[in-house]
Amino acid sequence: MPIRPIFVVAGVGNATGTGAAAARVFANAGFRVALVARNKDHLEKAAADINKSGGEAAAFPVSAYTYSAITQLFDDIKKHDWGKPNEKAEIRAALWNAGSGIFKTFLEVTEEDINDSVQNNIVAAFAFSRQAVLTFKDNEIDEKGRRGTLIFTGATASIRGNVYTSAFAAGKHGLRALSQSLAKEFGKQNIHVAHAIIDGGILTDRSLQRRSTPEAQEEFKNNLDVRLSPESIAESYLYLTNQERSSWTWELDLRPAHEKW
Ligand SMILES: NC(=O)c1ccc[n+]([C@@H]2O[C@H](COP(=O)([O-])OP(=O)(O)OC[C@H]3O[C@@H](n4cnc5c(N)ncnc54)[C@H](OP(=O)(O)O)[C@@H]3O)[C@@H](O)[C@H]2O)c1
Repeated sequence: MPIRPIFVVAGVGNATGTGAAAARVFANAGFRVALVARNKDHLEKAAADINKSGGEAAAFPVSAYTYSAITQLFDDIKKHDWGKPNEKAEIRAALWNAGSGIFKTFLEVTEEDINDSVQNNIVAAFAFSRQAVLTFKDNEIDEKGRRGTLIFTGATASIRGNVYTSAFAAGKHGLRALSQSLAKEFGKQNIHVAHAIIDGGILTDRSLQRRSTPEAQEEFKNNLDVRLSPESIAESYLYLTNQERSSWTWELDLRPAHEKW
């Protein structure tokens, strides 16, 4: 029976950012997509939009990014009644995209903030990785020599702390360390693990609202040289997922052409 692979993406937000763009791009490339986020309404709309445009998507809301909720998630995705019974459904790619962004000076950071960052950026990502790896280990090696691909979305804060990012950078550094450890341990089992440093602002509803003046918003929206487009990041994730095992990327860094770095 032919395989139609499933792509699991955790962190779909309100469907204007990287998570939703990755879902759309992978759906266009023939993947079934399992969408994971906390807001059920946004998630169901994002899945419906993909289904309407000819893809195959299903929504898997979680109440929070906890270890137990993420662990349960993979069972639910495997048990889901995917559309075409004559095509085997196998999870072949997964993206941990959820990221708790906390931008405060160090003395403003609360216990809740640091718990939130560790929970969402590290603890939940460990659960997600564990389930992805256990799932991939059961897959046959495909024509490109792989059992599956696990990708993480990082940020500038994955490699650099800064004035407002102590809590965020601690979480993103942890996530990067996890991805590197997994790449080294599971590459030998033909599981591809990759990490992407997104070194610049991504155009989403939320990041647009963070620009303080209408002029700054206009510039951020329309000038492709100063911000990243979610679709363009998603295309890079698809590229990672298509790599043949003799030349795998562990880490990719992506930034707009005019970014100062
Ligand atoms: N926006 C930027 O300028 C920028 C720059 C560099 C890196 N990044 C990283 O890129 C990734 C994608 O971000 P995006 O901006 O494109 O948005 P996105 O793909 O729409 O989604 C970001 C996800 O992070 C989750 N999230 C946000 N705040 C959270 C919190 N306090 N606790 C738990 N989860 C939270 C949301 O989860 P729900 O779906 O459950 O709401 C959302 O799905 C994130 O990992 C982010 O750190 C963003």
